[in-house]
Amino acid sequence: MKNLLYYYKKALKSGFALGAFNFSNLETLKAIASACEKSKSPAIIAVSESALNYMGDEFIVENVKIIKNHCKAPLFLHLDHGKSFDVCKKAVDLGFDSIMIDASSSPFEENVSLTKKVCDYAHNKGIFVEGELGQLAGIEDNVSVEENHFTNPQKAKEFVKLTNVDSLAVAIGTSHGAYKYQGESKLRFDILVQIEKNLPRFPLVLHGASSVNKEYVDIINNNGGNIKNAKGVSEELTKMAVQMHNVVKINIDTDLRMAFTAGIRKSMNENPENFDQRKYCLLGQKYVEDVVSHKIKYLLNSENKI
Ligand code: G3H
Ligand code: 13P
Ligand code: ZN
Repeated sequence: MKNLLYYYKKALKSGFALGAFNFSNLETLKAIASACEKSKSPAIIAVSESALNYMGDEFIVENVKIIKNHCKAPLFLHLDHGKSFDVCKKAVDLGFDSIMIDASSSPFEENVSLTKKVCDYAHNKGIFVEGELGQLAGIEDNVSVEENHFTNPQKAKEFVKLTNVDSLAVAIGTSHGAYKYQGESKLRFDILVQIEKNLPRFPLVLHGASSVNKEYVDIINNNGGNIKNAKGVSEELTKMAVQMHNVVKINIDTDLRMAFTAGIRKSMNENPENFDQRKYCLLGQKYVEDVVSHKIKYLLNSENKI
């Protein structure tokens, strides 16, 4: 099978990006795989440390193996926001295709030293490593930062040289979770341009890229939910990052959680007599598949790229 590097190079050349879709249950994983297969799109399937703990190592590895074997589109299992050498080592040893070491909250020198240590270990086993420089705003479980600290373009070049990292997550105005902006969404394309000048043709990653679709917020709220003032990054801006810049990986979690929740709430509300989770999860799964298909087609441009 072609590896992740092959697809990153192809993405840089042809102006598309791979979706990195987070999952924390089998329904979401199946929905992502189904959308990718129908769209003939490569994708990254990502698990955070907390998702890893929630599902369990064996559950993830064995189920992903089965899904990958049946899926006609290439899927790459990725550790999202690994915070320590030990968790990154565990993911490498478990057979993940790619890992992220996120030491972005540490001072530069510490970030370099931990990222390099992880790269040395992972590269030895042929595993791809993503690092992060700069910090995203927002709060999402164990990823929490008060305000934006944009990536310093000069430091980005130094960071890549010193660590030998394969791709770099940059902070240019996105944030994790459902409450990204109070006013209009903005991205600092000027910083992105500077980073790209210092790191030509280098694969960049955008975290916190959910657009928080009003359609799903409304379904949630119309079916007993209470989500107020949620706002994501506009898909037009993310599209620009994909089409005009070197962003080859777009991380999406919140949008899938919203879609899944919307489906479950709607199904439960409309069928109060039902207590079979296979029935109410089905609509959640369908909504997740719809969102992934939409992102592939309109945002990532990764359709028919396998
Ligand atoms: O970037 C963070 C991801 O959305 C993971 O969040 O730790 O709640 O799984 P989580
Ligand atoms: P969202 O919260 O915008 O979906 O971001 C997800 C993410 O960056 C996962 O690493
Ligand atoms: Zn993230």
